[in-house]
Amino acid sequence: MVRLKVEEFLTQSPQRRRGSEDVAQKDFSLRNFAALRTLRLGNDELLNAPIMNEEYFQVTKPLSIGMVGHGFMARAHTNAYKRVSDFFPELAYRPVLQAACGRDEAKVKAFAEQWGYASHETDWRKLISRDDIDAVDICVPNNLHKEIAIAAAKAGKMILCEKPLSMTVAEGEEMCKAVEAAGVANMVWYNYRRIPAVTLAKQLIDSGRLGRIYHFRANFLQDWTISGDVPQGGAATWRLDSAAAGSGVTGDLLSHCIDTALWLNGQIKDVSAMTETFVKERLHAETGEVQPVGIDDACAFLCHFDNGSLGLFESTRYARGHKALFTFEINGENASIRWDLHDLNRLEYFDHGDDSIVRGWRTVHVTEGEMPYMNRWWVPGLSIGYEHSFVHQVADFLEDLEKGRPCQPDFRSALQTQAVCEAVLNSGKSREWVAVS
Ligand SMILES: NC(=O)c1ccc[n+]([C@@H]2O[C@H](COP(=O)([O-])OP(=O)(O)OC[C@H]3O[C@@H](n4cnc5c(N)ncnc54)[C@H](O)[C@@H]3O)[C@@H](O)[C@H]2O)c1
Repeated sequence: MVRLKVEEFLTQSPQRRRGSEDVAQKDFSLRNFAALRTLRLGNDELLNAPIMNEEYFQVTKPLSIGMVGHGFMARAHTNAYKRVSDFFPELAYRPVLQAACGRDEAKVKAFAEQWGYASHETDWRKLISRDDIDAVDICVPNNLHKEIAIAAAKAGKMILCEKPLSMTVAEGEEMCKAVEAAGVANMVWYNYRRIPAVTLAKQLIDSGRLGRIYHFRANFLQDWTISGDVPQGGAATWRLDSAAAGSGVTGDLLSHCIDTALWLNGQIKDVSAMTETFVKERLHAETGEVQPVGIDDACAFLCHFDNGSLGLFESTRYARGHKALFTFEINGENASIRWDLHDLNRLEYFDHGDDSIVRGWRTVHVTEGEMPYMNRWWVPGLSIGYEHSFVHQVADFLEDLEKGRPCQPDFRSALQTQAVCEAVLNSGKSREWVAVS
């Protein structure tokens, strides 16, 4: 452990300060003490410094990020990389926005400049080949995950991959083998686990408060593809093109519900599903032709969990009035839990053990310091939002990296979600119960 006083740092030889010059030139002034606390140093001797008081600053290990994509998730993740060190200052690793990658040079350059990436690339292969990239973040349509992840693993890069892991279980298996053979840290962005109310639900279940679980119910409802005029394919509507997305609501939305369910309630044994494609043909934005639609617009399924409970899941993009209504409810022998993404700071809880004259559903406002992640943010009563789940996920990834343990869900764990999705899609086609392999 090394603790450096600010004055001591200033007296370091240039060689000892190697790697910090770029930051030093920009940030090193006593007026900018916050920047000093996360100053980037390249000298191994100075790593692993503990959190500093006002007199000291923390020395951190840089973790250079190569971001593939510059859309919705690239922004959500970049926001998390930028904020994590300020709110989790004890972490040894500090993300550095090294390079962003996209096919359209003007767009990716503008993204890199706006969000603070030091450089940009137009070919993800070039990005992966760069020595100054430690971790590759995959924020592109699903059909690209496998190729990029395997190439990144072979290049020895850590990988943070968006969900769903892959288009199919077979692809996902190849990805798992690649990261396992390379021994690189890997993680899939099932970020809803890191919403404090959802993490609290996990703690309540694991503490045994609910007792035996009987039911797990989840919905993810949207309404944005009802019009037949919405095209499929292309930059804005790749989610409607099975060649780019793999599946519709099953991989896009139900995968979140399934990841949460597996985490909270254990493995799923078998499923019986129905899927529907309401609009059978759509104009393809890239070919300019009207083509058959290959994705599921809606999906509902029943399942058995290993713990004996029954599951009921529904997702659609045709529920008029709903934009992103992700809800789940768990009914146990002693208590029940209910959560709703639209009111994400609250967890509803019913405890049959309460005195019967005041027994009823209570709403827990998950903002107290002893609740998961909440001591990092504001004072009790003040809320956080969707974006914080990504900050928490980065923080957990960095902490796990420091401690040498896999960050969950890793590729192998996310493959289990993929297996349930595939069983659901197969069952939707065959109209039979399908075992989850
Ligand atoms: N965790 C979540 O809650 C969540 C939410 C939304 C999306 N996602 C997932 O994130 C991924 C990206 O989704 P999005 O919403 O950010 O999509 P988006 O359409 O907003 O962005 C996709 C990006 O990929 C880029 N791209 C496409 N092909 C490329 C290529 N060959 N090389 C480099 N860049 C390329 C596009 O230019 C764009 O910048 C998907 O896998 C999606 O399922 C996860």
